[in-house]
Amino acid sequence: MLTIRRRDALREQVAAWRAEGSRIALVPTMGALHAGHIALIEAAKRQGTRVVASIFVNPKQFGPNEDLARYPRREATDARMLTDAGCDLLWAPAVEEMYPDGFATTVSVSGVSDGLDGASRPGHFDGVATVVAKLFGQVAPDIAYFGEKDFQQIAVIRRMVADLDMGVEIVGVPTQRDDDGLALSSRNIYLDDDQRRQAVALPRALGVAARAIARGEDAASVVNDAIVALNAAGFAVDYVELVDAETLGPASPDRPRRLLAAARMGATRLIDNIAVAGPGQG
Ligand code: PAF
Repeated sequence: MLTIRRRDALREQVAAWRAEGSRIALVPTMGALHAGHIALIEAAKRQGTRVVASIFVNPKQFGPNEDLARYPRREATDARMLTDAGCDLLWAPAVEEMYPDGFATTVSVSGVSDGLDGASRPGHFDGVATVVAKLFGQVAPDIAYFGEKDFQQIAVIRRMVADLDMGVEIVGVPTQRDDDGLALSSRNIYLDDDQRRQAVALPRALGVAARAIARGEDAASVVNDAIVALNAAGFAVDYVELVDAETLGPASPDRPRRLLAAARMGATRLIDNIAVAGPGQG
């Protein structure tokens, strides 16, 4: 696997692959890779494309009191995992390469960015949209892969791609989970043993709630029960919300629905989500 840190070298390599007729797939990441990221690389490989993974801990998507400084950085291990998974190129620019002096543009996607994590983490999705727009400009992929754990992020990126005619196909890959159901996340390493045991309450509460809503129980009281269960497990809940799976606006039983949650276990903020079956599908 090639590792490239400069935009000119990246452009040359991608142009060479295009000249030989290859399609280019991009898997954007912030590193600290786990099996969830590798599932994205594998999904890309199945399309028979050249696969580029990016590792860039994007300062613009962290709030002032968030974990930018302590976000795990371990490029050598990540590079070995990417090589083993058959990734062709690691794009690992420094912050100055991504945001040179004078950088002054922000991509802001209204609507889908506003609620949920957008409300709990002001500016977060502007940072995500800006860096993903830049990655798409740099790598010029035909197709890009994102994990469904970050469900709102995928909705924001789809909206941006459609609105700005970016011509990149966006593929969401199902969340990878530990044996007990906890969604894999680079932030799980912050949890101590007790917190890790308690954290399974998040996927469990979402599963219980999704089944109850699918059976036709009142969504508001089901969501309230989920919050009570999460609090009892030691979580401080940011939100549990049932939304339309495409618009992330108000849910209706005759359209695909998704239940999303964010909650803090100590200093660690975890997110998860689950599809909610329609009436008679559960
Ligand atoms: O999901 C992530 O890891 C990041 O938000 C992304 C898409 C790589 C942008 O920095």
